[in-house]
Amino acid sequence: MLPPEELLSAAIYARNQAHAPYSGFKVGVSLKGVSGKVFSGCNVENASYGLTICAERATVCSAVAAGVKTFNQMVIVADSESPCPPCGACRQFLFEFAPNLEIWITNLSGAVVYHRLQDLLPHAFGNTLLPGTKPHASESA
Ligand code: THU
Repeated sequence: MLPPEELLSAAIYARNQAHAPYSGFKVGVSLKGVSGKVFSGCNVENASYGLTICAERATVCSAVAAGVKTFNQMVIVADSESPCPPCGACRQFLFEFAPNLEIWITNLSGAVVYHRLQDLLPHAFGNTLLPGTKPHASESA
């Protein structure tokens, strides 16, 4: 299944902004909120390698800062031979806001893999397991 064109171009644009001088591996992400607003992000590396932020988490933070906490579609683009799936930490981070997220994982050659987040993170730990925690927050902007 092909990624939505609007999301693909936003992810490719964001990938070009990546700060990846250490790995040389640029990742771009776009994310659509339920209101239709599109957010994007890229990986941001740091000289103290461990502080690196993945493109997926950078994108979610950007959306949350704009008041958007409910998402349904994400596109990830990297220049890898096969499409680059989100790392484990990012899967958990995404699950907080979008357990049913649709994810198109692509590379610059046009290969596409489609997943639902719940398939990438089965038996997930989520906030419904915490006593007294309300269901996932809904979008406020
Ligand atoms: N990276 C991401 O941005 N997303 C992922 O899901 C996997 C890895 C970044 C982190 C680092 O800057 C580079 O790719 C190499 O690991």
